[in-house]
Amino acid sequence: MLAIYPGSFDPITLGHLDVIERGTRLFERVVVAVLRNPNKKPLFTVAERIVQIQQATAHLNVEVDSFDGLTVAYAKKRQAKVLLRGLRVLSDFEMELQMAHTNKTLSEDIETVFLATSNEHSFLSSSLVKEIAKFGGPIDHLVPPTVALDIYRCYAKTNPVPDQTALTPMSEFPKMECPQETVGDRE
Ligand code: PNS
Repeated sequence: MLAIYPGSFDPITLGHLDVIERGTRLFERVVVAVLRNPNKKPLFTVAERIVQIQQATAHLNVEVDSFDGLTVAYAKKRQAKVLLRGLRVLSDFEMELQMAHTNKTLSEDIETVFLATSNEHSFLSSSLVKEIAKFGGPIDHLVPPTVALDIYRCYAKTNPVPDQTALTPMSEFPKMECPQETVGDRE
């Protein structure tokens, strides 16, 4: 069975990765689908996020794709019957339930399957990671290594890269556009 794991993934965190890894144990195929959302100004472009997810999931049998419009429309296009979502804390529940119910009204035959995020990642969000990095804190324990470098590179203008990640001089990295993103509430 094919499951779609939709999200913003700006950027992917270890919490997302945990859901993906566990999803691959439950479903034959998992597609991580990055929403192209014109209403948000993300830190990373969709193309950059796709590469980040591909690198982070290289050890897994996972496809990474992008979509716009309704998630259920994308799921139908992919002939998927399952949407995968992670549940971290109680505050997630209200929004997630609303989305699941809304999606059910749009497509009766698509089910949302929730995985409880593992305890160690229950506090983690992309927004939190960006905020920590923005103020010069370490994020290596929260995101995959390549993502940590991408984020440090984005904020390097205002905060120097923490020593432990400075294995490669910043000048060796290709230049990356890092806009002042609008940070979502709960992504
Ligand atoms: O990682 P996020 O930002 O929590 O993901 C939210 C996402 C992308 C799953 C949700 O916003 C979504 O499905 N957007 C697509 C538009 C849509 O289908 N809306 C109706 C369901 S609420």
